[in-house]
Amino acid sequence: MLIGAAYYPEHWPEERWPRDAQLMREAGLGVVRLAEFAWDRLEPKEGRYDFSWLDRVMKHLGENDVRVIMCTPSATPTAWQVAKWPDLLPIKADGSPFPFGIRRHYCPRHKGYRDACRRMTAAMAKHFGRSKQVIGWQIDNEFGGVDSGMMCYCPLCLRQWRAWLKRRYGTLDALNAAWGTDFWSQKYTAWPQIVAPVHPISCHNPSLHLDWRRFSSEGVAEFQQVQVDALRARVKDQWISTNFMGLFDDLDYEKIAEPLDVAGWDNYPIGSADPVDPSLGHAVTRGLKQKNFLVFEQQSGAGGWNTMSATPQPGQIRMWTYHSIGHGADLVEYFRWRVCRFGTEQYWHGILGHDGEPGRRYEEVKQTAHEIARLAEALDGTEVRAPAAIWHTYDANWVIKYQPGCDEMNLWAEAKRFSKALAHRGISFDVVTPRADLGRYRLIVCPHAVILKPQHADALRKFAEGGGTVVLTARSGERLWSNLVTDQPRPGLLRPMAGCRVLEYDMVRPNRQVKIRMAAGGREFASFGWCDLLEAEGAETIARYAAEFYEGMPAVTVNRVGKGRVYYVGASAEDAFYGDLVARLSDEVGIAMRPPLPTAVEVLERVGPAGRILIVTNFSGQAQSVDIGDRGKDLLGKGTVGPKIDLEPYGVRVLKA
Ligand code: GAL
Ligand code: ZN
Repeated sequence: MLIGAAYYPEHWPEERWPRDAQLMREAGLGVVRLAEFAWDRLEPKEGRYDFSWLDRVMKHLGENDVRVIMCTPSATPTAWQVAKWPDLLPIKADGSPFPFGIRRHYCPRHKGYRDACRRMTAAMAKHFGRSKQVIGWQIDNEFGGVDSGMMCYCPLCLRQWRAWLKRRYGTLDALNAAWGTDFWSQKYTAWPQIVAPVHPISCHNPSLHLDWRRFSSEGVAEFQQVQVDALRARVKDQWISTNFMGLFDDLDYEKIAEPLDVAGWDNYPIGSADPVDPSLGHAVTRGLKQKNFLVFEQQSGAGGWNTMSATPQPGQIRMWTYHSIGHGADLVEYFRWRVCRFGTEQYWHGILGHDGEPGRRYEEVKQTAHEIARLAEALDGTEVRAPAAIWHTYDANWVIKYQPGCDEMNLWAEAKRFSKALAHRGISFDVVTPRADLGRYRLIVCPHAVILKPQHADALRKFAEGGGTVVLTARSGERLWSNLVTDQPRPGLLRPMAGCRVLEYDMVRPNRQVKIRMAAGGREFASFGWCDLLEAEGAETIARYAAEFYEGMPAVTVNRVGKGRVYYVGASAEDAFYGDLVARLSDEVGIAMRPPLPTAVEVLERVGPAGRILIVTNFSGQAQSVDIGDRGKDLLGKGTVGPKIDLEPYGVRVLKA
């Protein structure tokens, strides 16, 4: 278990470095991240690499037992590089270049820049790749982040786009068929005719759009691969990772995570009154490799560029740290060690303020890091073992974002409804993609699996046959991988396993009330958004619509498949519906549940050879009294506690069960 900070020594006079290192040691910080945006320091003139300043700062850090995560600086090409290659700047959808002076102002396919990144990474790896002080590598920074030109419309990208399509489809006939170019006279008769889906056309050919997304995302994966290869050839006993952004979904994180040793993300929970957003971010990151992960950045002060968020309340920095660890983080690095005096992030606060003097946030970090050092023995070697998973593809997300059908339709929003219900009963879940090993779960929820490959449907069916439960929701199986709508009755490839058929659908907007009524007990729940009107074909109907011309038609069904079950949930509904559903599903597949927990409280569990460690966090500023349905030795206090425990505002309990 490591606690650390993002450190930018290049922002401070060298005379200050020893004091920083000493304050870090006193605070119990064991690692810092270095060099992230420092290309112009690392290569002040083309071909002249200078790592001496890093050696000097690392000496001070080493003397204070602070280890290092080394970053490649590729998120910030230098002014001299942009001057050398004017075509390095990515071109935005409106045709204008992305400016120098922010970040990620590079076309990910630019040959000269890729070579420069290869050389820089190789030089850094040669210098630091055997250092015992360096524990791992972070490549670039937040691929695809807001201030980003990752979707580039430059002439090079457009040429490569057409070449990519040629490789994918072979012939124009195949491409025309896959995209449905008979619509509006879009047939391509030569490759150079093919366009990219630029603004302001808001609804271009959906298949073209989806392929463009795939192509753009692959460009980033290839850009990263250059650096992965340069590191792999040279580093020893150091892991390779990058910092993802949780629910960010413009890039296919499944592909980008593939060549990495471990996944990591940046966690800024200040705006989250309840834990669902950070919890989902953790679950996405954990699911990428199906194992513990890293938090490269975590809020430790008010954040903002021109305007700011609130400052963390006393206790929040500590509580968020435990929350991350409870979800499976083995490293938490605070962003940032000290707020900068210049540049875009003059207001992005960290552990220390502008004056560099230890204050309230420093003291809280210090308390937290020292506590966690004492817990290390109990926590080391433990991991989250989630019995449930939320299964999705980035392709489905792209399809839904482009054509939501109705405003309420959003893959993460549906995932959140299930997540809240799972967390409410203390059930942990991974968010996974098709590359995951499904065998470790008992319950798999597939929010809006709108687009599928036959092998995805097979994997889900096999999972159910083996005794698991699969939950499908509205719009499942609507499209083929090319983004054409299926010509089969829906849910298309999933129809045999679902044992039901979608006859029609309706968009239930806020001005209408359509409830769904449970067959057993008659309880009613408000439903909304995209509603699939079902017909059972062997499945049992467990809820029906209670209004409109479809009153009485099935809304939720369950089908027996081998030793397991497949549910079809035709509509989105109010939270209470998911609460009941999750209780029923967990009961059926034998997932242990806790007594219902307040929304702000999560009970997280890490398991290891020595048993279970429970981490209980309170996201709210109010004290909470909860029944966690478990007892254990209080590792931060005294004696045995539970099942009823009291939590202070933003409080934490750590128990050895
Ligand atoms: C993150 C980014 C950091 C810093 C921080 C605050 O998303 O990785 O470099 O910019 O936000 O803005
Ligand atoms: Zn480009």
